[in-house]
Amino acid sequence: MSHDNEMSPTTPRQFSLALLGGLLAPLVAILLIIGYAVAIQGEQTDANTADAQDREVRARIQPYGTSLAIDPNVPHVDRTGEVVYTEVCASCHGSGAIGSPKFKDAGAWAKRNAQGYNTLLTHALKGFNKMPARGGDADLTDQEVANAVVYMTNAVGSKFAAVLQQERIPSAGELAKGKAVYDKECATCHASGMTGAQKLNDVAAWKPLIKGGMEALYLSAVNGTNTAPAKGGNLKLSDADARLATDYMVSEAKAAIAKAAATKPVTKPATQPATKPATKPAEKTSEKK
Ligand code: HEC
Ligand code: HEC
Repeated sequence: MSHDNEMSPTTPRQFSLALLGGLLAPLVAILLIIGYAVAIQGEQTDANTADAQDREVRARIQPYGTSLAIDPNVPHVDRTGEVVYTEVCASCHGSGAIGSPKFKDAGAWAKRNAQGYNTLLTHALKGFNKMPARGGDADLTDQEVANAVVYMTNAVGSKFAAVLQQERIPSAGELAKGKAVYDKECATCHASGMTGAQKLNDVAAWKPLIKGGMEALYLSAVNGTNTAPAKGGNLKLSDADARLATDYMVSEAKAAIAKAAATKPVTKPATQPATKPATKPAEKTSEKK
């Protein structure tokens, strides 16, 4: 009889199941509580406080327009004048706010553009009366400011190029001095083309040289290049005189280039209509093959 009342002996399997159940329930409860607490905290600091504060500060220190902030990990590519204008300059120039010359308002820009590109660029870079330096966005590169200046001024008919330093235009006195140096020191080769020196009226030779910029030409004149002797071979010549002679040579070359360009349109219309109809049918037949 006593045997019947006795509980069956617990198997090891039953024991471990009971143990697991007893331990697991509180553990799950604890984990849930921790999770809940963390969730509440996270919500408060990240989403509500820090982000909002950050946004508020950014809004406050942002004087005009959108910052074209620079990410140090991404190689910088200068934005076009249109983009810079839209994002930074338009906040004033779009409406003519605080006395700024309004975009596309030819009357407002006429006198300003007459000052010349260099003055406009300097004012845009450094500020001018109520015009803030770089339109108030210190992140803009010089080139981006130049692009925007050109975008705005060319919108009212100017034909400026977005260069950072417009070429120095030598005065008449400087050109006269340069010519004197040239006649004495440089003409021996450059007037005749001797030893491969570029003649001043050699349009094809000077076009690419001028495109390379004056600094490169000054360097060549002072230090020599390839078969060109430094200072035309007269090392007693001052750097300044070699530069003036170069100014003169380039101004002569530019005159030759302008003259060549002016005569071109006269010849073009005469030759083009004559050649075009003749070549087109020939192209078509060759395509069919
Ligand atoms: C906060 C308003 C404001 C913003 C933004 C602004 N400008 Fe201006 N800008 C002015 C005002 C005002 C003037 C007229 C200043 C004067 O003549 O006294 C002006 C004048 C100029 C001039 C003519 C300067 C001259 O010599 O006559 C240029 C060029 C110019 N801004 C370029 C820019 C460029 C480029 C940007 C954007 C990168 C820009 N501005 C953004 C207010 C602004
Ligand atoms: C002895 C002959 C000779 C004399 C004198 C001479 N040059 Fe030249 N010069 C050359 C030759 C040759 C070249 C072409 C070099 C080349 O690019 O191969 C040249 C090229 C140049 C160029 C173009 C350089 C470039 O970057 O390609 C300049 C600028 C120049 N000379 C300036 C001067 C000036 C200024 C003087 C006088 C102070 C002068 N040269 C006198 C022979 C001469």
